[in-house]
Amino acid sequence: MAFNRRQFLTLGGVGLAGALSFQAWRSLSNAPVSPQVSGATVVRSDRGLLEVALNAQYGSFSLDGDPAQTFMTYNGQLPGPRLEVNPGDRLIIHFTNTLDQSTNLHFHGLHLAPTGNQDNIFREVKPGASVTYELPIHPQQRPGTYWYHPHWHGVVAEQLFRGLAGLIVVRGELDQIPAIAAAQEEFLVLQDFPRGANVPRSGGPGMGMAMDQNFMAGRQGELITLNGLPQPTIDITQDWLRLRLLNASPSRFYRLQIPDISWQQIATDGGALAQPKVLGELLLTPGQRAEVLIPTDQWPDRQSLPLENLPYARAQMGMMGGQFSEPPTAIAHFRKRLGTENPASPSITLPDRLSTLEKLENPVVTRRFTLNHGMAPGRGMAFLINGESYAGTPQTTVTLGDVEDWELINTGTMDHPFHVHVNGFQVVSRNGEPETDLAWRDTVLVRVGETVRIRIRFDDFPGTTVYHCHILDHEDLGMMGQLWIQPPST
Ligand code: C2O
Ligand code: CU
Ligand code: CU
Repeated sequence: MAFNRRQFLTLGGVGLAGALSFQAWRSLSNAPVSPQVSGATVVRSDRGLLEVALNAQYGSFSLDGDPAQTFMTYNGQLPGPRLEVNPGDRLIIHFTNTLDQSTNLHFHGLHLAPTGNQDNIFREVKPGASVTYELPIHPQQRPGTYWYHPHWHGVVAEQLFRGLAGLIVVRGELDQIPAIAAAQEEFLVLQDFPRGANVPRSGGPGMGMAMDQNFMAGRQGELITLNGLPQPTIDITQDWLRLRLLNASPSRFYRLQIPDISWQQIATDGGALAQPKVLGELLLTPGQRAEVLIPTDQWPDRQSLPLENLPYARAQMGMMGGQFSEPPTAIAHFRKRLGTENPASPSITLPDRLSTLEKLENPVVTRRFTLNHGMAPGRGMAFLINGESYAGTPQTTVTLGDVEDWELINTGTMDHPFHVHVNGFQVVSRNGEPETDLAWRDTVLVRVGETVRIRIRFDDFPGTTVYHCHILDHEDLGMMGQLWIQPPST
Protein backbone atom coordinates (compact mmCIF):
# COMPACT_ATOMS: atom_id res chain seq x y z
CA MET A 1 0.00 0.00 0.00
CA ALA A 2 1.17 3.47 -0.79
CA PHE A 3 1.31 5.91 2.06
CA ASN A 4 1.83 9.57 1.73
CA ARG A 5 4.40 10.32 4.41
CA ARG A 6 2.63 13.36 5.82
CA GLN A 7 -0.59 11.45 6.30
CA PHE A 8 1.24 8.57 7.84
CA LEU A 9 2.74 10.87 10.42
CA THR A 10 -0.56 12.59 11.09
CA LEU A 11 -2.29 9.30 11.61
CA GLY A 12 0.48 7.74 13.65
CA GLY A 13 -1.08 8.79 16.92
CA VAL A 14 -4.57 7.52 16.23
CA GLY A 15 -6.20 5.87 19.20
CA LEU A 16 -9.43 4.05 19.72
CA ALA A 17 -11.99 5.00 22.31
CA GLY A 18 -12.83 1.94 24.35
CA ALA A 19 -11.43 -1.50 23.69
CA LEU A 20 -14.36 -3.78 23.08
CA SER A 21 -14.82 -7.47 23.38
CA PHE A 22 -14.74 -9.18 20.04
CA GLN A 23 -15.20 -12.61 18.65
CA ALA A 24 -12.90 -13.31 15.77
CA TRP A 25 -14.49 -14.97 12.78
CA ARG A 26 -12.36 -15.50 9.73
CA SER A 27 -9.42 -13.10 9.38
CA LEU A 28 -11.40 -9.99 10.38
CA SER A 29 -10.28 -8.07 13.42
CA ASN A 30 -11.72 -5.03 15.12
CA ALA A 31 -8.42 -3.73 16.32
CA PRO A 32 -8.26 -0.04 15.43
CA VAL A 33 -6.96 0.56 11.94
CA SER A 34 -5.90 3.98 10.76
CA PRO A 35 -7.52 5.15 7.57
CA GLN A 36 -5.18 4.34 4.72
CA VAL A 37 -4.79 5.22 1.08
CA SER A 38 -5.46 1.72 -0.09
CA GLY A 39 -8.75 1.65 1.82
CA ALA A 40 -10.30 -0.57 4.41
CA THR A 41 -9.35 -4.01 5.65
CA VAL A 42 -10.62 -6.55 3.14
CA VAL A 43 -12.20 -9.92 3.82
CA ARG A 44 -13.17 -12.30 1.05
CA SER A 45 -15.42 -15.30 0.95
CA ASP A 46 -13.84 -18.71 0.85
CA ARG A 47 -15.56 -21.78 -0.59
CA GLY A 48 -18.87 -19.96 -0.76
CA LEU A 49 -18.91 -18.50 2.73
CA LEU A 50 -17.93 -15.23 4.34
CA GLU A 51 -18.66 -15.05 8.05
CA VAL A 52 -17.60 -11.87 9.81
CA ALA A 53 -18.22 -9.91 12.98
CA LEU A 54 -19.07 -6.25 12.65
CA ASN A 55 -19.14 -4.05 15.68
CA ALA A 56 -20.69 -0.58 15.53
CA GLN A 57 -18.42 1.27 17.96
CA TYR A 58 -17.03 4.71 18.73
CA GLY A 59 -13.53 5.46 17.55
CA SER A 60 -11.42 8.56 17.83
CA PHE A 61 -9.33 9.82 14.94
CA SER A 62 -7.55 13.02 14.14
CA LEU A 63 -7.96 14.01 10.52
CA ASP A 64 -5.87 16.62 8.80
CA GLY A 65 -4.37 18.03 11.98
CA ASP A 66 -7.78 18.77 13.51
CA PRO A 67 -8.32 17.84 17.15
CA ALA A 68 -9.35 14.20 17.48
CA GLN A 69 -13.06 13.72 16.86
CA THR A 70 -15.25 10.84 17.82
CA PHE A 71 -16.53 8.86 14.89
CA MET A 72 -18.92 5.99 14.68
CA THR A 73 -17.09 3.10 13.06
CA TYR A 74 -17.43 -0.53 12.12
CA ASN A 75 -14.65 -2.38 13.98
CA GLY A 76 -12.74 0.82 14.67
CA GLN A 77 -12.27 1.50 10.96
CA LEU A 78 -13.14 4.45 8.78
CA PRO A 79 -14.69 3.37 6.44
CA GLY A 80 -15.69 -0.11 7.65
CA PRO A 81 -14.11 -3.35 6.40
CA ARG A 82 -14.67 -4.17 2.74
CA LEU A 83 -16.52 -7.44 2.26
CA GLU A 84 -15.96 -9.32 -0.99
CA VAL A 85 -18.26 -12.11 -2.15
CA ASN A 86 -19.35 -13.94 -5.29
CA PRO A 87 -22.88 -14.57 -6.57
CA GLY A 88 -24.31 -17.61 -4.79
CA ASP A 89 -22.15 -17.18 -1.65
CA ARG A 90 -23.46 -16.92 1.87
CA LEU A 91 -22.56 -13.80 3.84
CA ILE A 92 -23.10 -14.08 7.58
CA ILE A 93 -22.62 -10.98 9.71
CA HIS A 94 -22.56 -11.18 13.49
CA PHE A 95 -23.46 -7.63 14.33
CA THR A 96 -23.06 -5.93 17.70
CA ASN A 97 -24.16 -2.42 18.59
CA THR A 98 -21.94 -0.80 21.20
CA LEU A 99 -23.14 2.71 20.40
CA ASP A 100 -25.47 4.49 22.80
CA GLN A 101 -28.30 4.68 20.25
CA SER A 102 -30.22 2.19 18.13
CA THR A 103 -28.90 1.24 14.73
CA ASN A 104 -29.07 -1.65 12.23
CA LEU A 105 -27.66 -2.66 8.86
CA HIS A 106 -28.91 -2.15 5.33
CA PHE A 107 -27.25 -3.76 2.31
CA HIS A 108 -27.62 -1.04 -0.29
CA GLY A 109 -28.17 -2.35 -3.81
CA LEU A 110 -28.11 -6.05 -3.05
CA HIS A 111 -31.01 -8.22 -4.17
CA LEU A 112 -31.99 -9.73 -0.83
CA ALA A 113 -35.22 -10.45 1.01
CA PRO A 114 -36.40 -7.36 2.93
CA THR A 115 -37.59 -9.58 5.78
CA GLY A 116 -36.32 -11.74 8.66
CA ASN A 117 -32.59 -11.58 9.20
CA GLN A 118 -31.79 -10.40 5.69
CA ASP A 119 -32.11 -6.79 4.41
CA ASN A 120 -34.68 -5.92 7.05
CA ILE A 121 -34.39 -2.23 7.89
CA PHE A 122 -37.33 -2.44 10.30
CA ARG A 123 -35.29 -4.54 12.69
CA GLU A 124 -33.97 -2.40 15.52
CA VAL A 125 -30.62 -3.23 17.08
CA LYS A 126 -30.65 -1.53 20.46
CA PRO A 127 -27.53 -0.36 22.30
CA GLY A 128 -25.70 -3.41 23.64
CA ALA A 129 -27.63 -5.84 21.43
CA SER A 130 -26.20 -8.42 19.02
CA VAL A 131 -27.97 -9.91 16.02
CA THR A 132 -26.97 -12.05 13.07
CA TYR A 133 -27.66 -11.18 9.45
CA GLU A 134 -27.71 -14.18 7.12
CA LEU A 135 -27.48 -13.09 3.54
CA PRO A 136 -27.68 -15.58 0.68
CA ILE A 137 -26.07 -13.63 -2.15
CA HIS A 138 -28.41 -14.29 -5.05
CA PRO A 139 -26.95 -16.53 -7.79
CA GLN A 140 -28.05 -13.87 -10.32
CA GLN A 141 -26.83 -10.96 -8.22
CA ARG A 142 -25.18 -8.55 -10.64
CA PRO A 143 -21.49 -8.20 -9.82
CA GLY A 144 -20.66 -4.66 -8.73
CA THR A 145 -19.93 -2.18 -5.99
CA TYR A 146 -22.48 -2.25 -3.18
CA TRP A 147 -22.35 -1.08 0.42
CA TYR A 148 -23.68 -1.38 3.94
CA HIS A 149 -24.81 1.39 6.23
CA PRO A 150 -27.25 2.00 9.10
CA HIS A 151 -30.96 2.42 8.32
CA TRP A 152 -32.72 3.07 11.61
CA HIS A 153 -35.26 5.74 10.62
CA GLY A 154 -34.62 9.12 12.22
CA VAL A 155 -30.88 8.71 12.86
CA VAL A 156 -29.63 7.59 9.45
CA ALA A 157 -28.15 10.96 8.43
CA GLU A 158 -26.43 11.39 11.79
CA GLN A 159 -24.94 7.90 11.79
CA LEU A 160 -23.52 8.24 8.27
CA PHE A 161 -22.25 11.74 9.05
CA ARG A 162 -20.37 10.21 11.97
CA GLY A 163 -18.71 7.68 9.67
CA LEU A 164 -20.76 4.46 9.42
CA ALA A 165 -20.39 2.92 5.95
CA GLY A 166 -18.51 0.09 4.29
CA LEU A 167 -18.25 -1.54 0.87
CA ILE A 168 -19.63 -4.88 -0.26
CA VAL A 169 -18.07 -5.99 -3.53
CA VAL A 170 -19.62 -8.72 -5.62
CA ARG A 171 -16.94 -10.10 -7.93
CA GLY A 172 -17.79 -11.24 -11.45
CA GLU A 173 -17.90 -10.33 -15.12
CA LEU A 174 -15.93 -7.07 -15.22
CA ASP A 175 -13.15 -8.59 -13.15
CA GLN A 176 -12.65 -11.18 -15.88
CA ILE A 177 -12.12 -8.74 -18.78
CA PRO A 178 -8.32 -8.70 -19.35
CA ALA A 179 -7.91 -4.92 -19.66
CA ILE A 180 -9.89 -4.45 -16.47
CA ALA A 181 -8.25 -7.30 -14.59
CA ALA A 182 -4.82 -5.82 -15.46
CA ALA A 183 -5.77 -2.37 -14.19
CA GLN A 184 -4.80 -1.04 -10.81
CA GLU A 185 -8.00 -1.27 -8.79
CA GLU A 186 -8.65 1.47 -6.25
CA PHE A 187 -11.73 1.73 -4.09
CA LEU A 188 -12.58 5.28 -3.09
CA VAL A 189 -15.19 5.79 -0.38
CA LEU A 190 -16.12 9.48 -0.31
CA GLN A 191 -17.31 10.94 2.98
CA ASP A 192 -17.47 14.42 4.45
CA PHE A 193 -17.20 15.44 8.08
CA PRO A 194 -17.52 18.61 10.12
CA ARG A 195 -14.32 20.30 11.19
CA GLY A 196 -13.07 23.11 13.37
CA ALA A 197 -15.71 24.49 15.71
CA ASN A 198 -18.18 21.89 14.42
CA VAL A 199 -16.11 18.92 15.46
CA PRO A 200 -17.46 16.86 18.33
CA ARG A 201 -14.57 16.28 20.75
CA SER A 202 -13.25 12.87 21.57
CA GLY A 203 -13.96 11.24 24.90
CA GLY A 204 -17.70 10.97 24.45
CA PRO A 205 -20.24 10.41 21.77
CA GLY A 206 -20.93 14.15 21.50
CA MET A 207 -23.90 15.53 19.67
CA GLY A 208 -22.35 15.06 16.29
CA MET A 209 -23.95 18.18 14.89
CA ALA A 210 -23.26 21.84 15.23
CA MET A 211 -26.19 24.22 15.41
CA ASP A 212 -25.41 25.90 12.12
CA GLN A 213 -25.78 22.76 10.04
CA ASN A 214 -28.62 22.99 7.64
CA PHE A 215 -30.84 19.95 8.18
CA MET A 216 -33.38 21.11 5.64
CA ALA A 217 -30.92 21.20 2.80
CA GLY A 218 -29.07 18.18 4.16
CA ARG A 219 -25.99 18.35 6.33
CA GLN A 220 -22.58 18.75 4.71
CA GLY A 221 -19.14 18.78 6.33
CA GLU A 222 -16.23 20.91 5.21
CA LEU A 223 -13.70 18.09 5.41
CA ILE A 224 -13.88 15.70 2.46
CA THR A 225 -12.17 12.35 2.89
CA LEU A 226 -11.39 9.40 0.65
CA ASN A 227 -11.08 6.17 2.57
CA GLY A 228 -11.04 8.29 5.73
CA LEU A 229 -8.15 10.48 4.54
CA PRO A 230 -8.21 14.12 3.55
CA GLN A 231 -6.35 14.61 0.25
CA PRO A 232 -4.55 11.29 0.00
CA THR A 233 -1.93 10.71 -2.67
CA ILE A 234 -2.47 7.52 -4.62
CA ASP A 235 0.53 6.03 -6.38
CA ILE A 236 -0.22 4.64 -9.83
CA THR A 237 2.00 1.80 -10.96
CA GLN A 238 -0.06 0.37 -13.82
CA ASP A 239 -1.07 1.64 -17.26
CA TRP A 240 -4.75 1.50 -16.45
CA LEU A 241 -6.43 2.74 -13.34
CA ARG A 242 -9.82 1.35 -12.30
CA LEU A 243 -11.57 3.58 -9.79
CA ARG A 244 -14.54 2.19 -7.89
CA LEU A 245 -16.25 5.10 -6.22
CA LEU A 246 -18.92 5.27 -3.54
CA ASN A 247 -20.60 8.44 -2.32
CA ALA A 248 -21.21 7.57 1.35
CA SER A 249 -21.95 11.16 2.38
CA PRO A 250 -25.39 11.86 3.80
CA SER A 251 -26.04 14.85 1.49
CA ARG A 252 -23.00 16.05 -0.41
CA PHE A 253 -22.91 15.56 -4.18
CA TYR A 254 -19.52 15.00 -5.80
CA ARG A 255 -18.80 16.26 -9.27
CA LEU A 256 -15.43 14.79 -10.06
CA GLN A 257 -12.83 15.35 -12.72
CA ILE A 258 -9.14 15.02 -13.37
CA PRO A 259 -8.53 18.18 -15.41
CA ASP A 260 -7.96 17.41 -19.12
CA ILE A 261 -8.29 13.65 -18.63
CA SER A 262 -11.25 11.72 -19.96
CA TRP A 263 -12.58 8.62 -18.29
CA GLN A 264 -14.46 5.61 -19.48
CA GLN A 265 -17.30 4.75 -17.19
CA ILE A 266 -17.68 0.97 -17.07
CA ALA A 267 -20.21 0.45 -14.28
CA THR A 268 -23.00 2.16 -12.38
CA ASP A 269 -24.80 1.26 -9.15
CA GLY A 270 -25.93 -2.06 -10.52
CA GLY A 271 -22.69 -3.24 -12.11
CA ALA A 272 -21.39 -3.24 -15.67
CA LEU A 273 -22.69 -0.96 -18.38
CA ALA A 274 -23.39 -2.65 -21.71
CA GLN A 275 -20.69 -0.47 -23.28
CA PRO A 276 -18.02 1.81 -21.86
CA LYS A 277 -18.98 5.47 -21.90
CA VAL A 278 -16.50 8.32 -22.29
CA LEU A 279 -16.91 11.04 -19.68
CA GLY A 280 -15.13 14.27 -18.81
CA GLU A 281 -16.58 14.43 -15.34
CA LEU A 282 -18.65 12.25 -13.08
CA LEU A 283 -21.55 13.33 -10.90
CA LEU A 284 -22.12 11.06 -7.93
CA THR A 285 -25.12 11.71 -5.67
CA PRO A 286 -25.37 10.28 -2.16
CA GLY A 287 -25.79 6.51 -2.34
CA GLN A 288 -24.51 6.14 -5.89
CA ARG A 289 -21.51 4.14 -7.06
CA ALA A 290 -19.60 4.23 -10.32
CA GLU A 291 -16.59 2.58 -11.85
CA VAL A 292 -14.29 4.38 -14.24
CA LEU A 293 -11.27 3.21 -16.18
CA ILE A 294 -8.48 5.69 -16.90
CA PRO A 295 -5.49 5.06 -19.16
CA THR A 296 -2.39 6.36 -17.38
CA ASP A 297 0.32 5.26 -19.80
CA GLN A 298 0.77 8.81 -21.08
CA TRP A 299 1.00 10.34 -17.64
CA PRO A 300 4.38 11.85 -16.83
CA ASP A 301 6.35 9.86 -14.30
CA ARG A 302 6.27 11.24 -10.76
CA GLN A 303 4.04 14.17 -11.61
CA SER A 304 0.89 14.39 -9.58
CA LEU A 305 -2.54 14.96 -11.06
CA PRO A 306 -5.43 16.21 -8.90
CA LEU A 307 -8.82 14.58 -8.50
CA GLU A 308 -11.01 17.65 -8.28
CA ASN A 309 -14.44 18.14 -6.81
CA LEU A 310 -16.38 20.81 -8.72
CA PRO A 311 -19.21 22.92 -7.29
CA TYR A 312 -22.74 21.65 -7.83
CA ALA A 313 -25.92 23.52 -6.92
CA ARG A 314 -28.33 20.93 -5.59
CA ALA A 315 -30.92 23.44 -4.45
CA GLN A 316 -32.22 26.69 -5.81
CA MET A 317 -30.50 29.84 -4.63
CA GLY A 318 -31.43 30.87 -1.15
CA MET A 319 -32.03 27.35 0.12
CA MET A 320 -28.46 26.71 1.16
CA GLY A 321 -26.72 30.01 1.72
CA GLY A 322 -23.05 29.96 0.87
CA GLN A 323 -22.63 26.21 0.48
CA PHE A 324 -22.30 26.40 -3.31
CA SER A 325 -19.69 29.09 -3.54
CA GLU A 326 -16.92 26.58 -2.85
CA PRO A 327 -14.18 26.65 -5.49
CA PRO A 328 -13.08 23.38 -7.14
CA THR A 329 -10.96 21.55 -4.63
CA ALA A 330 -8.40 18.81 -5.06
CA ILE A 331 -9.65 15.98 -2.87
CA ALA A 332 -6.87 13.55 -3.83
CA HIS A 333 -3.81 13.31 -6.06
CA PHE A 334 -2.65 10.58 -8.36
CA ARG A 335 1.08 10.18 -8.85
CA LYS A 336 2.48 7.99 -11.57
CA ARG A 337 5.36 5.84 -10.40
CA LEU A 338 6.99 3.72 -12.99
CA GLY A 339 10.21 2.09 -11.99
CA THR A 340 12.21 -0.93 -12.99
CA GLU A 341 10.15 -2.94 -10.57
CA ASN A 342 6.99 -1.92 -12.48
CA PRO A 343 7.73 -2.16 -16.18
CA ALA A 344 5.02 -0.72 -18.37
CA SER A 345 2.56 -3.46 -19.23
CA PRO A 346 1.90 -4.30 -22.87
CA SER A 347 -1.01 -2.25 -24.16
CA ILE A 348 -4.37 -3.87 -23.77
CA THR A 349 -7.63 -2.57 -25.09
CA LEU A 350 -11.05 -2.42 -23.58
CA PRO A 351 -13.73 -4.35 -25.50
CA ASP A 352 -16.74 -2.43 -26.89
CA ARG A 353 -19.13 -4.74 -25.14
CA LEU A 354 -18.75 -5.15 -21.40
CA SER A 355 -21.92 -6.97 -20.48
CA THR A 356 -25.25 -8.20 -21.75
CA LEU A 357 -28.06 -6.39 -20.01
CA GLU A 358 -31.64 -7.53 -20.09
CA LYS A 359 -33.93 -4.68 -21.04
CA LEU A 360 -37.12 -4.56 -18.97
CA GLU A 361 -40.29 -4.33 -21.09
CA ASN A 362 -44.02 -3.78 -20.80
CA PRO A 363 -44.97 -2.25 -17.49
CA VAL A 364 -48.36 -3.33 -16.18
CA VAL A 365 -48.82 -0.11 -14.22
CA THR A 366 -47.46 3.44 -14.26
CA ARG A 367 -47.36 5.23 -10.92
CA ARG A 368 -46.45 8.77 -10.05
CA PHE A 369 -44.37 10.00 -7.18
CA THR A 370 -44.07 13.74 -6.63
CA LEU A 371 -41.15 14.88 -4.52
CA ASN A 372 -41.38 18.09 -2.51
CA HIS A 373 -41.27 19.49 0.97
CA GLY A 374 -44.00 21.23 2.89
CA MET A 375 -46.15 21.00 5.97
CA ALA A 376 -47.11 17.55 7.15
CA PRO A 377 -50.24 17.36 9.34
CA GLY A 378 -49.14 17.31 12.97
CA ARG A 379 -45.42 17.26 12.20
CA GLY A 380 -44.56 20.68 10.90
CA MET A 381 -42.07 20.95 8.08
CA ALA A 382 -41.45 17.64 6.41
CA PHE A 383 -40.17 16.14 3.21
CA LEU A 384 -42.93 14.51 1.26
CA ILE A 385 -43.64 11.96 -1.43
CA ASN A 386 -47.07 12.46 -3.01
CA GLY A 387 -47.80 14.95 -0.24
CA GLU A 388 -47.25 12.34 2.48
CA SER A 389 -44.52 12.02 5.02
CA TYR A 390 -43.23 8.56 6.00
CA ALA A 391 -46.05 6.75 7.74
CA GLY A 392 -44.71 3.39 8.87
CA THR A 393 -47.50 1.63 6.97
CA PRO A 394 -47.56 0.58 3.31
CA GLN A 395 -47.94 3.60 1.03
CA THR A 396 -47.45 1.68 -2.23
CA THR A 397 -48.54 -1.90 -2.92
CA VAL A 398 -47.15 -3.83 -5.85
CA THR A 399 -47.29 -7.47 -6.96
CA LEU A 400 -44.33 -9.81 -7.04
CA GLY A 401 -43.17 -10.45 -10.60
CA ASP A 402 -44.77 -7.31 -12.09
CA VAL A 403 -42.89 -4.73 -14.14
CA GLU A 404 -43.91 -1.16 -13.32
CA ASP A 405 -42.99 2.31 -14.52
CA TRP A 406 -42.54 4.93 -11.84
CA GLU A 407 -42.65 8.55 -12.83
CA LEU A 408 -40.62 10.59 -10.37
CA ILE A 409 -41.60 14.25 -10.50
CA ASN A 410 -39.65 16.87 -8.62
CA THR A 411 -41.98 19.81 -7.95
CA GLY A 412 -39.78 21.35 -5.25
CA THR A 413 -36.71 23.55 -5.00
CA MET A 414 -34.06 20.92 -4.16
CA ASP A 415 -32.63 17.98 -6.07
CA HIS A 416 -33.58 14.55 -4.73
CA PRO A 417 -31.65 11.31 -5.44
CA PHE A 418 -34.39 8.65 -5.38
CA HIS A 419 -33.49 5.18 -4.15
CA VAL A 420 -35.40 1.88 -4.07
CA HIS A 421 -34.44 -1.11 -1.93
CA VAL A 422 -34.26 -4.79 -2.95
CA ASN A 423 -34.75 -4.48 -6.74
CA GLY A 424 -32.68 -2.44 -9.16
CA PHE A 425 -34.28 -0.40 -11.94
CA GLN A 426 -33.59 1.04 -15.38
CA VAL A 427 -34.07 4.68 -16.32
CA VAL A 428 -36.49 4.91 -19.26
CA SER A 429 -36.55 8.67 -19.84
CA ARG A 430 -35.74 12.05 -18.36
CA ASN A 431 -38.18 14.87 -19.10
CA GLY A 432 -39.61 12.68 -21.86
CA GLU A 433 -36.20 12.18 -23.54
CA PRO A 434 -35.52 8.46 -23.87
CA GLU A 435 -32.45 7.33 -21.98
CA THR A 436 -29.85 5.97 -24.37
CA ASP A 437 -27.64 4.03 -21.94
CA LEU A 438 -28.90 0.73 -20.70
CA ALA A 439 -27.86 0.38 -17.08
CA TRP A 440 -29.06 -1.04 -13.78
CA ARG A 441 -29.30 1.48 -11.00
CA ASP A 442 -30.74 1.73 -7.54
CA THR A 443 -30.40 5.49 -7.03
CA VAL A 444 -31.29 8.12 -9.61
CA LEU A 445 -31.05 11.88 -9.45
CA VAL A 446 -34.30 13.80 -9.97
CA ARG A 447 -33.33 17.43 -10.40
CA VAL A 448 -35.50 20.44 -9.59
CA GLY A 449 -38.34 20.56 -12.14
CA GLU A 450 -37.43 17.22 -13.69
CA THR A 451 -39.50 14.12 -14.38
CA VAL A 452 -37.59 10.84 -14.48
CA ARG A 453 -39.28 7.61 -15.53
CA ILE A 454 -37.82 4.41 -14.14
CA ARG A 455 -38.79 0.78 -14.85
CA ILE A 456 -38.60 -1.85 -12.16
CA ARG A 457 -39.51 -5.50 -11.74
CA PHE A 458 -40.23 -6.95 -8.33
CA ASP A 459 -38.36 -10.24 -8.41
CA ASP A 460 -38.14 -13.12 -5.98
CA PHE A 461 -38.85 -11.46 -2.64
CA PRO A 462 -42.29 -10.57 -1.26
CA GLY A 463 -42.41 -8.37 1.83
CA THR A 464 -42.30 -4.78 2.97
CA THR A 465 -39.44 -2.46 2.15
CA VAL A 466 -38.90 1.22 1.29
CA TYR A 467 -38.04 3.81 -1.33
CA HIS A 468 -36.66 7.19 -0.31
CA CYS A 469 -34.54 10.22 -1.05
CA HIS A 470 -30.87 9.41 -0.39
CA ILE A 471 -30.19 12.87 1.00
CA LEU A 472 -30.51 11.23 4.37
CA ASP A 473 -31.78 14.27 6.23
CA HIS A 474 -34.67 14.31 3.76
CA GLU A 475 -35.25 10.61 4.41
CA ASP A 476 -35.16 11.11 8.19
CA LEU A 477 -37.53 14.09 7.79
CA GLY A 478 -40.10 11.93 6.00
CA MET A 479 -39.17 11.59 2.32
CA MET A 480 -39.58 7.83 2.40
CA GLY A 481 -42.44 5.53 1.55
CA GLN A 482 -43.18 1.94 2.49
CA LEU A 483 -43.43 -0.48 -0.38
CA TRP A 484 -45.38 -3.68 0.10
CA ILE A 485 -44.49 -6.35 -2.47
CA GLN A 486 -47.43 -8.73 -2.23
CA PRO A 487 -47.39 -12.32 -3.48
CA PRO A 488 -49.43 -12.76 -6.69
CA SER A 489 -53.00 -13.96 -6.09
CA THR A 490 -53.40 -17.50 -7.37
CU1 C2O B 1 -28.49 3.47 1.05
CU2 C2O B 1 -32.35 3.01 2.07
O1 C2O B 1 -30.43 3.27 1.59
CU1 CU C 1 -30.58 1.12 0.03
CU1 CU D 1 -34.15 14.82 -1.03
